[in-house]
Amino acid sequence: MKIAIYPGSFDPITNGHLDILERAMKLFDKVIITIARNSTKVPMFTETERLEMIRKVVRSYKKVEVDCFDGLLVDYARRKNATAIVRGLRAISDFEYELQMALMNRKLSDGLVTVFLMPNEKYTYLNSSIVREIARLNGDVSRFVPVVVLKALKKKARSAKR
Ligand code: COA
Repeated sequence: MKIAIYPGSFDPITNGHLDILERAMKLFDKVIITIARNSTKVPMFTETERLEMIRKVVRSYKKVEVDCFDGLLVDYARRKNATAIVRGLRAISDFEYELQMALMNRKLSDGLVTVFLMPNEKYTYLNSSIVREIARLNGDVSRFVPVVVLKALKKKARSAKR
């Protein structure tokens, strides 16, 4: 069974992430989409909120498992018997950071392969912070995120105004 890990902050998950996930599902028997707990980013959504949103969004995907992890990604991948890490590559600007991570992860765990997938070009300019910012300023992000996430963003924006 070929297992891949799709790690990230997913704060929140966007249609761009889903695009990558769907592509990965075509290549692997199981894809574990997993939230990194020790990210240096200060999240808008708690880990529980992010998990809940992702679970709802991928509910109908039979090959997908949703999880969180602490510590090194390579150790987590080993525990999960995964042979690959999936990362999205949107533009040249992603390349340097992704190359460094992929090479470092290879140094740390030789058998683990990083697979880069390109999302549909309509998502190449998308990231979670830009979605958060537009939503915070009452802009329309309905084209960029699943409905569950859209509702959660609106709720956050309302509670921030109180
Ligand atoms: N569509 C939309 N947005 C996308 C995207 C896509 N297809 N692919 C990436 N992004 C965005 C994300 O939304 C995120 O945006 P943001 O910065 O505005 O929040 C950004 O691109 C990149 O973030 P993400 O993919 O979530 O990765 P990350 O940099 O937050 O996390 C980890 C990277 C979790 C994989 C890495 O930090 C890690 O492995 N941590 C564990 C500790 C470890 O092993 N460290 C050593 C690594 S060598």
